[in-house]
Amino acid sequence: MSKGRIIGLISGKGGVGKTSLTVNLGVSLSDFGNEVTIVDADFAASNLGVYLGRYDHPVKIQEVLQGDAEPESAIFRHPTGIKGIVSSNEIDFVEPDISNLREVLETAAEQSDYVLVDCPPGLNSTVENIMMSVDELMIVTMPTQTSGVNAAQIIEKAKELRQPVLGTVVNKVSGDPEIELIDREIEMMTESHILHQIPHDHTMRKSLFESEPLVKHEPLAEAALEIKELAASVGGHEYQRPRFAKLKRKLGNLSGNLN
Ligand SMILES: Nc1ncnc2c1ncn2[C@@H]1O[C@H](COP(=O)(O)OP(=O)(O)O)[C@@H](O)[C@H]1O
Ligand SMILES: [Mg+2]
Repeated sequence: MSKGRIIGLISGKGGVGKTSLTVNLGVSLSDFGNEVTIVDADFAASNLGVYLGRYDHPVKIQEVLQGDAEPESAIFRHPTGIKGIVSSNEIDFVEPDISNLREVLETAAEQSDYVLVDCPPGLNSTVENIMMSVDELMIVTMPTQTSGVNAAQIIEKAKELRQPVLGTVVNKVSGDPEIELIDREIEMMTESHILHQIPHDHTMRKSLFESEPLVKHEPLAEAALEIKELAASVGGHEYQRPRFAKLKRKLGNLSGNLN
């Protein structure tokens, strides 16, 4: 297997949906037949394991970064088919020395088509170093002024660091131009193109509560369908959106209510 693509999902602002997207994009790429490893690099607020169903693995990324464990021992196979590396959120581990991060990601990439890195919010030297450890960046934002400004800062930094930007994913879109930025405004603000829009979808929170990635928990949910489409375009896969998804969803809800 040739070395996989190492993609950092990054936003500047927290709470925009990076971790949700890392997990669901990873599972979707895996469903298209790719070997995918997702990596928690949000050391101060690591929650990738929670999104994977409180998935715990004894070897955390910090031990590998410190040189106390081999990268392979931190990689586990999740029931969805993807592989993962989780992070410890113990107070002593929130600021690890990340000088080995690139090496760890490259080891994961040797056995993967994609390595998706869940990056921390903010813009500081740790975030900058993480940005330098990946091959390309996928910007995640929401259609709000604040997240747009933070996304623009990240993109400016990426240009300064000469790190390639794949484009911007706009998440939690409700489609009301009165209260939301529209695509053109986001593109002008961030000077990057929009890869995809993902609607605000309450099933995303529900899937987190039920500890299962949305694309598995409710594959017909609107956000799940859009993430699959995004995965298809990132990976160059053919994807036919299921017909009558809305109707099937309604029927599913109805039978759920009757049970
Ligand atoms: N498309 C969406 N629609 C509705 N809620 C979403 C969507 N994407 C993410 N969320 C919710 O937003 C919250 C923050 O998401 P998270 O992935 O943890 O963001 P980040 O990693 O950027 O901090 C979670 O409660 C998640 O369920
Ligand atoms: Mg997160």
